[in-house]
Amino acid sequence: MVIGIAGLGRMGAAIGARLLEVGHQLVIWNRTAAKVKALADAGATVAASPSELASGVEAVITILIDAAAIDEVYGGPKGLLAGDVKGKLFIDMSTVRPATALALAVKVRAKGAAFAECPVGGSVGPARQGKLLGVMGAEAADAERAKPILAELCRRLDHAFYHLDGKRSRARGEDLGARRSGTSRDYSAAAKTGSIPSRIRSSAMLWLHTPRLRKKSQSHFQAPL
Ligand SMILES: NC(=O)c1ccc[n+]([C@@H]2O[C@H](COP(=O)([O-])OP(=O)(O)OC[C@H]3O[C@@H](n4cnc5c(N)ncnc54)[C@H](OP(=O)(O)O)[C@@H]3O)[C@@H](O)[C@H]2O)c1
Repeated sequence: MVIGIAGLGRMGAAIGARLLEVGHQLVIWNRTAAKVKALADAGATVAASPSELASGVEAVITILIDAAAIDEVYGGPKGLLAGDVKGKLFIDMSTVRPATALALAVKVRAKGAAFAECPVGGSVGPARQGKLLGVMGAEAADAERAKPILAELCRRLDHAFYHLDGKRSRARGEDLGARRSGTSRDYSAAAKTGSIPSRIRSSAMLWLHTPRLRKKSQSHFQAPL
């Protein structure tokens, strides 16, 4: 598959190396151009802008530092969503607040593209080895498209189904072959105490791991297209 990655920080670079290793073709873009070198040397194609990257791939992964970075990379005349992206798949793996993830989901789907958010637990080592812990938030059809890619990056992938019209369906987890981590235990603790640890910062994580908070977080899933 031809996959694009926008954002070659520590995590993006490791994910890119993993995707090349498992046989995908990679197109890459990063704000600081020097960071593309290692992956370019390993065979990735460098795009001149996010919009050029999106035009040449079937699926785009973004893993950026914060909401402002997401705005810059997706928005604007040379952003990922600037061109015709109908039918493409966008997976945002940044760890950002629920409102940020949801606003992005709405923008992407309004362009006729599929969207999944998948914040991850783990760091550079697990990213390089495809052993991250992913919590995917996506509508069912979009999730089906994202899953094969995320399964190559994650040893465990949980899926929080949601619908942008506010309807919700149940969550389920899928063990990709390893034990639960300490991170998962944090989520379970949150469900018991009713408080949200600062590390649980995405709507998918909230939805999946804190059942008692689902009512409170429902508004995160209500954004009409
Ligand atoms: N590091 C970890 O162990 C880890 C683990 C799990 C989750 N995460 C999450 O993964 C995401 C990325 O983390 P990271 O460690 O890879 O961060 P990082 O090394 O600091 O990389 C951040 C990336 O965001 C880009 N960026 C920042 N501001 C931007 C802007 N205004 N416009 C365009 N691009 C911008 C950076 O581009 P430049 O190169 O141009 O600065 C870089 O590609 C974060 O949401 C983090 O919470 C990290």
